[in-house]
Amino acid sequence: MPPTYRIAPSLLAADFARLGDEVRDVIAAGADWIHFDVMDNHYVPNLSFGPMVCAALRKHAVRADGSKVPIDVHLMVQPVDALALDFAKAGADRISFHPEASNHVDRTLQVIRGAGCSAGLVFNPAASLDVLEWTLDQLDLVLVMSVNPGFGGQSFIPGALKKIERVRQLIDAHRQATGRDIRLEVDGGIKTDNIRAAADAGADTFVAGSAIFGQPDYKAVIDAMRARLAA
Ligand code: DX5
Ligand code: ZN
Repeated sequence: MPPTYRIAPSLLAADFARLGDEVRDVIAAGADWIHFDVMDNHYVPNLSFGPMVCAALRKHAVRADGSKVPIDVHLMVQPVDALALDFAKAGADRISFHPEASNHVDRTLQVIRGAGCSAGLVFNPAASLDVLEWTLDQLDLVLVMSVNPGFGGQSFIPGALKKIERVRQLIDAHRQATGRDIRLEVDGGIKTDNIRAAADAGADTFVAGSAIFGQPDYKAVIDAMRARLAA
């Protein structure tokens, strides 16, 4: 069965003075998920937005037919647990964190799932995947970073493709054993001209910030990305 691809525009590249409108506009342009990058000036050297902004945007993250668009929270924070819970209360649907930012990864996954959210682990370019051996059955999402976290607008690190391939093998084996699917998301430097390579490596969900919000016509970019994925 061919994968159902998802495109998740990152609000980090949106106009922060008009975030509600940006969420509505990018959904009208075809966004599947809203990617929400949380930076704490501790785990990463940058500061973005917190749970109150997520809560304010929750009501804007709906399609014209009233259906909810998932808010995909990417936590670049340390410590993780308390903020993860705050984001669950703020209406997040999916919450991912970097395993090295949590002292007790299994506990953090339990916190997120216990709050009713889907849970994901995020792997930096130089991070080992070892923890997946012990966590895959608790994951709904694996996020492979194709830049070092902290900033939008960086260039795609080609080594991420090999990591995506490795994660794809693990996810496929897990699905064969359990019947449960796990999303494989890639984040950082995704553009129309490299999205196909990430999909060929095994990604099924694509974060794109500057590629979408940096252009005047969001729909044209998202349509072009889907055309590359369909080709
Ligand atoms: C980086 C963030 C990414 C980033 C993507 O720390 O996790 O989501 O904003 O932005 P672009 O697509 O511009 O690389
Ligand atoms: Zn992100």
